[in-house]
Amino acid sequence: MREIKTNDGSITFLNEDINEFYNPLTGAIDRAFNAYINKIDYSNKNELKVLDIGFGLGYNSLCLTYECLKRNINVEIVAVDKDIGAINMIPRLNIPDYLVYSHSLLLEGIKSKRTEHKNFRFRLETGNILDIADKLKEKFDIIILDPFSYSKNKEMYSSNLLIKLKKLFNKYGFLICYNSNPVFVSNLLENSFFIKKYEISKHEHGIMASPFLKFELDDSSKKLARAFGKDINP
Ligand SMILES: C[S@@+](CC[C@H](N)C(=O)[O-])C[C@H]1O[C@@H](n2cnc3c(N)ncnc32)[C@H](O)[C@@H]1O
Repeated sequence: MREIKTNDGSITFLNEDINEFYNPLTGAIDRAFNAYINKIDYSNKNELKVLDIGFGLGYNSLCLTYECLKRNINVEIVAVDKDIGAINMIPRLNIPDYLVYSHSLLLEGIKSKRTEHKNFRFRLETGNILDIADKLKEKFDIIILDPFSYSKNKEMYSSNLLIKLKKLFNKYGFLICYNSNPVFVSNLLENSFFIKKYEISKHEHGIMASPFLKFELDDSSKKLARAFGKDINP
């Protein structure tokens, strides 16, 4: 796998089958915080149960673990990915000092597929989320969905997957995804999710979606989903 240093000094790799990097070259760690971890409201939380879909090199779980431990929140992560090649690269990452302890917890979890520390629990499920989602019996507070781009990874944005995920949320549960493309929004609306957009950068918006939390989507995004929300080449 071709390794490359991103702008924040963290390492990512090229997935040669689909010709896309696992993380943006602007910074894998920056991205995990800016698109996901810093967007979560941790107030009044003592514990969080999180499904990390598209675990890849583990940056989202890593930064989430750090953030929760810092805030004294018990965190339980179920990480899912079908790409064992990516997971095998995690020990080779260039981890900054402040994340080293969280990284060591993740490494232990990956090695034994399941680990439990004082306020950290972790389980790794390898395989296709479309199969794994059917077998999961627990409910989650947060589902992190971190696919490749839409054109290369359509199943991760599909109604087929959303139908399965919808059963996995607890009462205050929500999904967070960096990508707000109209087909994904349309699929979420079709499956009766409440949706809101959030800003990642001036030109990039992510999606939070929930079957229960009454998020509100702006009218122009709804129109866009109606107009462009059907994939002409699924
Ligand atoms: C953009 S990368 C995720 C990067 C990762 N979150 C990180 O922090 O390094 C997308 C990941 O989704 C995984 N993936 C794509 N389709 C999948 C599927 N159907 N089931 C499980 N994993 C999938 C890929 O193997 C890849 O690791």
